[in-house]
Amino acid sequence: MEKLQVGILASGRGSNFEAILKNIQQKKLDAAIQVVISNKASACALEVARENNIPAVHISKKQFPEQELFDEQLLLVLKNYNVNFVVLAGYLKMLSPIVVKNFKNRILNIHPALLPSFGGQGMYGQNVHQAVLDYGCKVSGVTVHLVDEEYDTGSPVLQRCVPVLEGDAAEDLARRVLKVEHQIFTEALQLFARGRIEIDGRRVKIRP
Ligand code: GRF
Repeated sequence: MEKLQVGILASGRGSNFEAILKNIQQKKLDAAIQVVISNKASACALEVARENNIPAVHISKKQFPEQELFDEQLLLVLKNYNVNFVVLAGYLKMLSPIVVKNFKNRILNIHPALLPSFGGQGMYGQNVHQAVLDYGCKVSGVTVHLVDEEYDTGSPVLQRCVPVLEGDAAEDLARRVLKVEHQIFTEALQLFARGRIEIDGRRVKIRP
């Protein structure tokens, strides 16, 4: 079984990346982070990578306005750092079909709600939690899913519920959900690392 050599793509704060890194350091996850890539030069995720001596690369639309060149560059960097598994940890750009094809069933995203509810374009950050509260939901949760060519439509790998409590504001729910994100992203990655994932159509089966 080939070791998971992860490329992290992140646009912002990078707390999921940090949680994954910590779990690798504490030997709870059998993987290596080869590179962190961001479309935002100022992303905290890039700073955290540098502090931990992990290559940090900025690839933006400004540098590569043509989608084809952007994709080429992204694939080149992933290849140069020997990445065999891609993790979207708060990456706000949609991946092109060519990138998805190159890492078929080897790209995971995390979404701070129970998909297919409260997903899709524009559903990120506080928008998600506000929408859950506005709907009056009693539970929300986290979905770790495979990435396909659309927003948030790939098969779920793991999902976990998080209760909505009376009086929750979006920030309260976000905080509770984020704690669970930090646990289950690693759990999902460890399933891949251990070769316990079998993909059967839309179903992601977990071998014992
Ligand atoms: C998380 O809430 C994740 O579910 C979503 O983007 C956010 C990223 O947070 N995809 P962070 O940058 O990992 O702190």
